[in-house]
Amino acid sequence: MMKFHTLSPLDTKKCAEKFATEIKAGVHKKNGALIIGFVGDLGSGKTTFIKKFARALGVRSSVTSPTFLIQKKYKLKHKNFLSLIHVDAYRIGKPGEMNRIGFGDEIKNKNNIIVIEWADMIKKVLPKKIMWVTFKHGKKENERYITVKK
Ligand SMILES: Nc1ncnc2c1ncn2[C@@H]1O[C@H](COP(=O)(O)OP(=O)(O)O)[C@@H](O)[C@H]1O
Ligand SMILES: [Mg+2]
Repeated sequence: MMKFHTLSPLDTKKCAEKFATEIKAGVHKKNGALIIGFVGDLGSGKTTFIKKFARALGVRSSVTSPTFLIQKKYKLKHKNFLSLIHVDAYRIGKPGEMNRIGFGDEIKNKNNIIVIEWADMIKKVLPKKIMWVTFKHGKKENERYITVKK
């Protein structure tokens, strides 16, 4: 488990870079996709973190929140991972809807890294063991607590 206490968006981005370094090292390699669930209130920093994480993995095109699209896919150039898939489950009505957009196959593909905002809303369609990154607001305006569980 990793714990971060950040006091600015920049701090949070640095955490995302550290996290990406670990992922790139490949220590988390699974049978299927490497799935990372992000939970935390609106504005707690999930997208900020994921954008930097994508950058650190070598994504060059701009990473924007997939809120209205549900999922976006980016190419990676990494020996283990070919794609990064960014999901925002906030507007998903039923978890089962994910399968309509081919999510079942993406989960099985071990060349994928899948990052999911509001992953707790689609827990039903996720494997039991995934990584979780939790965001909490602190007392100060720009204060955040970030926890990574493997
Ligand atoms: N320590 C911090 N870490 C991350 N974001 C922060 C922090 N302090 C302030 N912010 C601001 O909070 C907002 C977080 O938004 P966003 O990353 O879209 O959150 P989410 O995806 O969880 O809704 C941004 O406007 C960002 O600039
Ligand atoms: Mg977001």
